[in-house]
Amino acid sequence: MTEKKPTYYITTPIYYPSANLHIGHTYCTVMADAMARYKRLTGYDVMFLTGTDEHGQKIQKIANEHGTSPQAYVDQVVSGIKQLWKTMEISYDDFIRTTEERHVKRVQAMFNKMAEKGDIYKGEYEGWYCTPCEAFWTETQAVEGKCPDCGRPVEKAKEEAYFFKLSKYQDRLIDLFENHPEFLQPDSRRNEMLSFARQGLEDLCISRSTFNWGIPVPGDPGHVIYVWLDALSNYATALGYPDDPEKYDHYWPADVHLVGKEIVRFHSIIWPAMLMSLDQPLPQKVLGHGWILLEGGKMSKSRGNIVDPVVLIERYGVDALKYFLLREYTFGHDGLYTNEVMLNRMNADLANDLGNLVSRTTSMIDKYNGGVVPGPGTDEGPDQELKKMAVGVAERVDRQMEKFNFNLALEEIWTLIRRTNKYIDETAPWVLARAEADKPRLLTVLHNLADSLRIVSVLIYPFMPNTTGKIRKQLGLWFADPEWKDTQVFDTMNGEQIKREAALFPRIDIEKELADLEALQTAAGEPAREYPPIKEEIEYDDFAKLDLRVGRVKSCEKHPKADKLLVFQIEMGNEVRQIISGVADCYKPEETIGRTVVVVANLAPRVLRGLESNGMLLFADNADRFEFVTTDAPHGETVS
Ligand code: MSP
Repeated sequence: MTEKKPTYYITTPIYYPSANLHIGHTYCTVMADAMARYKRLTGYDVMFLTGTDEHGQKIQKIANEHGTSPQAYVDQVVSGIKQLWKTMEISYDDFIRTTEERHVKRVQAMFNKMAEKGDIYKGEYEGWYCTPCEAFWTETQAVEGKCPDCGRPVEKAKEEAYFFKLSKYQDRLIDLFENHPEFLQPDSRRNEMLSFARQGLEDLCISRSTFNWGIPVPGDPGHVIYVWLDALSNYATALGYPDDPEKYDHYWPADVHLVGKEIVRFHSIIWPAMLMSLDQPLPQKVLGHGWILLEGGKMSKSRGNIVDPVVLIERYGVDALKYFLLREYTFGHDGLYTNEVMLNRMNADLANDLGNLVSRTTSMIDKYNGGVVPGPGTDEGPDQELKKMAVGVAERVDRQMEKFNFNLALEEIWTLIRRTNKYIDETAPWVLARAEADKPRLLTVLHNLADSLRIVSVLIYPFMPNTTGKIRKQLGLWFADPEWKDTQVFDTMNGEQIKREAALFPRIDIEKELADLEALQTAAGEPAREYPPIKEEIEYDDFAKLDLRVGRVKSCEKHPKADKLLVFQIEMGNEVRQIISGVADCYKPEETIGRTVVVVANLAPRVLRGLESNGMLLFADNADRFEFVTTDAPHGETVS
């Protein structure tokens, strides 16, 4: 009878397919992958879930800007995300998309169950509303009473909406944080959530009716389900909850939800409360990790400062990137990314420590024993110390992995790698090779090196599976899958045929590479820049209706009632016109005097905050900064 394996269910957040993912996103997935592989290797029946969070107003808006439907837009981005995970050899067991039928119908079923429980009611949602954007904003989002998207004024407005009785679960949540410290880690996040819950939890608005790219509320299709409720449910719907219990009963509750620090609140308050309402067991653990930051702060596509994992993978390989991410950063803390930190790490640990060990070991076995791994011999000198250390690493790795300390687990493995390199220097096989009498000792040393490297090849498997394969091939172990138990025994190698290959991790010339990489990253960044689609075609007659003229700024001052607006007096041939533009963020009034500009001269007048604007000035958008469209022609001339 085969023994039943314990289950292990691990998840990443489901990513927004609003744009391609950057290195910050890959960080969480790489950690989850390492843990999933480690658990499989150590005897667990693992379920590793990832996916994409595809609904919501933001996606709908971006798709509109691209002139495409939300579904077509997300389909394209999601296929890029899946390709990235394939390139990175991410071993997920399932990939859930929130637009899939299986998810949609199950979210609706969950909504119904919560409603049946009496936890959902219809009420009125009050917020700040931007009419042109058709968007509600919260008090904090609508800074200074303006829409954070378009900058136009927002108004207080009410709409009908569904609410979830989050307040009902406040005491149980407080109890969870107080009495189950293991539920939410690190402790700092738990304390934050505890005080948040103690301040009092308000019922949560869980539907929207101002846009429709979402899962319809069952029986009330004018409303769509709030995107976080839709998103969090993925951890259960992917397993079949509530209608298909087989997988769900097998794997639920999740052992760990790995999430970034900014979404801990959703996972440790809203998600458990939903599960309480559904009478389902809670996940064992929510773990909040830190962010990978750049010198200028957070990575953001709109700021154009993202690090593209594909560029790094093409240059250094998947395993080097994974190793760097897992080794460099400490779980739960933010960390800084620079090319230099990464390249130094790759050179020191991969090219020098591991790469050298592999090439020295295989080349000496080739040279001194015709490429055949010798069997074990008699222990001498540092042999016992090396062996004892080698067979003890797995247990120390286990201890670190239990705490998600990927960097310390790798450090344990590298202690063995460095110790083995030192063993080469201590035993000096090239000296032993000189005298026939030393041959038995030489063979013992070569055996010990190969066996230590064999153990390393298994230990690194969860973190860099590709490299495991390459080392085992070189050691003549291609026929055997790595097994964790093999790390606890020494002296198993005997008679394998070495097969040398090119350096695993070629040494990097850091100075040269830094320059090349920067050039590449800039180049790679360029095509990624997205321009708004070209508007619908018009006839010449439509264009000819515009009267464009050259103008000159005679004077300019701030609008007395609106921070964003500047009031220009524009000389245009024989007249001077007042024109108002929303460019106060881009120009100081005095900077604009004397500038030649292009004016839409026949635009109907408009009153903006009490002042009349007679026409419009043309500006070009330069990465969110408006710049005058200008010419050398004198004012008054026509532009056509
Ligand atoms: N869709 C939601 C999650 C729903 S889970 C039910 C979401 N998506 S996201 O694409 O914006 O972010 C996904 C994850 O990527 C988050 O955990 C976030 O912390 C992580 N990261 C985004 N940028 C990051 C870094 N620069 N560094 C590390 N992680 C980062 O939120």
